[in-house]
Amino acid sequence: MKLAKCLICLLIVLLSGCFDSGERNAEPAAKPAEGPVNTNITVNTNTTVNTNTTLNTNTPSSADLPSAKPLVLGFSQLGSESTWREANTESIQSAAQEAGITLIIKNAEQSQHKQIEAIRSFIESKVDIIAVAPVVQTGWDEILEEAKQAGIPVIILDRSIAVKDPSLYVTCIGSDFFEEGVKAAKYMLDKMRRQSGLIKIAELQGTIGSTPSIDRGRGFRDTIQGRNQFQITLTEPADFTKEGGYKVMQEFLSLPESEWPDVLFSHNDDMAIGAVTAIEEAGLKPGTDIIIISVDGTRRAFEQMIAGSINAVVECNPLLGPLLMQAAQEIMAGRTLPKRMVPAEDIFTQELAAKEVGNRIY
Ligand code: AHR
Repeated sequence: MKLAKCLICLLIVLLSGCFDSGERNAEPAAKPAEGPVNTNITVNTNTTVNTNTTLNTNTPSSADLPSAKPLVLGFSQLGSESTWREANTESIQSAAQEAGITLIIKNAEQSQHKQIEAIRSFIESKVDIIAVAPVVQTGWDEILEEAKQAGIPVIILDRSIAVKDPSLYVTCIGSDFFEEGVKAAKYMLDKMRRQSGLIKIAELQGTIGSTPSIDRGRGFRDTIQGRNQFQITLTEPADFTKEGGYKVMQEFLSLPESEWPDVLFSHNDDMAIGAVTAIEEAGLKPGTDIIIISVDGTRRAFEQMIAGSINAVVECNPLLGPLLMQAAQEIMAGRTLPKRMVPAEDIFTQELAAKEVGNRIY
């Protein structure tokens, strides 16, 4: 897919707190943007959006870059647990090829230890820039300090991290998972507004300690706080996998019928799809007997919405490759980047699914 053809609809946000502005750790320095500048970003998809920060829209030409050598990017991918992840890896590979960037990619199979080893190997082989999609939120300070000492800039992709020193990475590109949890809860509150009595909610969490699982859960809980009719009565991690979703839902439905949930909030589509099978096997109608809300927006989830088995899907965009490549080039050219870049995302319901399914590319 041509970079120029694919315009991603991006909302770029400068965050405070753990995303406080920090300085890049290699020359030429890329400093966080200092104030809002309206710009249209052209990266991957067919929409442009006004943003309030600076990411130069023009991919630097090779003349802008410090040397004519192709840029070498070491990328530690956390695993291949879901359809989302596969689309994310594919997006990064094709964008690297498109941008003429040499990509060294390592799959950590859900192990933080393997990710740390991968980053260390990138440092040893003196790559120009490192990107990491971190499996969990904490425990990155030491290895990122090593990268900083080696003068190699780091981009955090997909899942944000908590580090004491924000200058350990240049920028973080990925979704606002808290907001995704908020959207899921708002949909549920609206959908169930005519129901009386206790509404029991089951939650399928993602990987324990991962940012999307933590933040989606927080966003959802914050939104239903004070609405005592809505209670999360069952919650368990299912590791973002279809098999996990199937197994945990089976467990939930092996409880006495009085404990069965009215609503399922699944932290991703794969787990929701696994749960749909378990619900059907229990003789229930997913989407009717149990309202199902999921996150990601895969084509399979859209098909399930059309079939009536999933009620709503909050979008989480995996197509981050073009933006990652652009950011890498910008950093190497010494340009200013925002500390945080968040793609604009939507929520889809059964009513919209048939119209939208043809547009889903993952
Ligand atoms: O970090 C993004 C999440 O990770 C996606 O929601 C999920 O499908 C993936 O495994």
